[in-house]
Amino acid sequence: FTPKRLAGRKVVITAGPTFEAIDPVRGITNSSSGKMGYAIATACVRAGAEVVLVSGPVMLPAPLGVRRVSVSSALQMRDAVFAALPGADVFIGVAAVADYRPVQAAEHKIKKSGASISIDLTPNPDILAEVAGGPNAPFCVGFAAESRDLDGYAEGKRRSKRLPLLVGNLVADGLGGDDNTVILYDDAGKHPLPRAAKPVIAERIVEHLASLLPAGAGQ
Ligand code: PMT
Repeated sequence: FTPKRLAGRKVVITAGPTFEAIDPVRGITNSSSGKMGYAIATACVRAGAEVVLVSGPVMLPAPLGVRRVSVSSALQMRDAVFAALPGADVFIGVAAVADYRPVQAAEHKIKKSGASISIDLTPNPDILAEVAGGPNAPFCVGFAAESRDLDGYAEGKRRSKRLPLLVGNLVADGLGGDDNTVILYDDAGKHPLPRAAKPVIAERIVEHLASLLPAGAGQ
C-alpha cells in the first residue's frame, strides 16, 4: 500500500445510520455501527487526504486527523454533506441512510391506547445520487448492503447513480460486525476481496479508488 496516494485530496465520507424521529423518544433507524465508514475515513487519512466524516449516531470516537460532523437525520446528513462538499475530490457514501422518514414527528410523546396506529412515511432524498448528479461532481463511491442477489442489486445501483465505483456487501457479512466480505464493482467488472477486518478492507478500497481517481479531479 502506497501510504500517500491521496495527498492533496479532500474526501467527504458519510457513515453510520440515520435516525428519523417519530416523537421525542422514538424513531426509525437501522443497525449500522459506523465501523466500515470510520475505517474508510482512517484509511483516507493514512493515504494523506483531508477528511470530513459526516456521521450518524454511533458509539465510535472520531478517528485521529478527521473532521467529524455529527448528525442525526437524513436531512441533516444531506445539509452537512453539501456544506462540506466545496473543494472535495472524492465523496464516499458508506452511511445506511433511512430511505423514509415520518411525514411529521409528533411534538409530544405518543401515548399508548388499545388501538393500532400507523405512521405516514415520506421518502428521504438520496444524498449520493444528488452529489453524483450535481455540477462539478467529485469522484463518487457508493456502497450497497443487500440480503440477496448482491451482483444484480449492486450493479443496478452503480449504473442508476452513474458511479465509477461501488462496494457491495451482504448484510449478514458486513452490518455491525468487525469483519466484512466485499466485492468492488467498477467499469472493468467485479473484484471480490477476501474476508478481512474492516480496517484491512478499508485500505484495499482506498487503494482501489486511488488507482481510478483522475489526476487533478475535484471542484
Ligand atoms: O456501519 P457498519 O456496521 O460497519 O456496516 C457497514 C454497512 C453494511 C452499513 C456498509 O458497508 C454499507 O453497505 N453501507 C451502505 C448501506 C446501504 O444499503 O445503502 P443503500 O443501498 O440504501 O444505498 C446505496 C448507496 O446510496 C449508499 O452508498 C448510501 O450511503 C447511499 N444513500 C442511500 C440512500 C440515501 N437516502 N442517501 C444515500 O446517500
